[in-house]
Amino acid sequence: MTRAKIVAGNWKMHMDLEEGKALTSEILKQLPDGGSTIILGTPFIHLATIAPMLTSHNNVVVAAQNCHQEASGAYTGEISAAMIASTGAKAVILGHSERRSYFAESDEMIYNKTKAALSQGLQPIVCVGESLELREAGEHLSFVATQLKKSLFGLSGSDFDKVVIAYEPVWAIGTGKTASPEQAQEMHAHIRKVVAEAYDSETGDKVSILYGGSVKPSNAVEIFGKPDVDGGLIGGASLNADDFIAIVKALS
Ligand code: 13P
Repeated sequence: MTRAKIVAGNWKMHMDLEEGKALTSEILKQLPDGGSTIILGTPFIHLATIAPMLTSHNNVVVAAQNCHQEASGAYTGEISAAMIASTGAKAVILGHSERRSYFAESDEMIYNKTKAALSQGLQPIVCVGESLELREAGEHLSFVATQLKKSLFGLSGSDFDKVVIAYEPVWAIGTGKTASPEQAQEMHAHIRKVVAEAYDSETGDKVSILYGGSVKPSNAVEIFGKPDVDGGLIGGASLNADDFIAIVKALS
């Protein structure tokens, strides 16, 4: 079973438009040939400018970092999946732990956002992951299983096949503290098993599961070397072209 290999950058709320264009140009200049998919998760305002920069690279796409769950309406300041798709973006990061905690996004909202994204042909990259408290209490596996069930398992099998899952332990995000390759592998294998139980073993085998949380050039090879890790969702290190490219190379 060959799964899609993906390195996705999550720029979060960094980079103005000019900086984002410059970072994209530098990444494209250094991009190695290879079979991985590269996703640039930019702020909304960059999407329409960066998407046309990628047209000659068929393995590089731009993604949003959120979308609203409704198709349209009086939701001041919000952005719909259709608006994102109209920029040329191909994917959207959903349910990031920063959105779950700072913007009170529930599993149910994330499910509805995932449906909205799929209805517009956007690939959802849906994030799950436990807090340090839950890990120390030994509840990390069951917690992530519940997040998956509530955020995703209402989808039909054919819709689920379009989803990418990102495992991002909250305690490893922006902290410099990475899950060990063994901890990542344990959770990724668990996620695959939970997906196989909810759908079927083929679905579990083919879903791409990315690891996120302090991935750097110095640890990427080891983490990506684990059999159930299909790539990474990269925060801080995606803001520097040399580091991001080194991480891309670590996957190939
Ligand atoms: P860092 O790589 O900065 O830890 O961020 C991870 C992340 O949140 C990616 O979505």
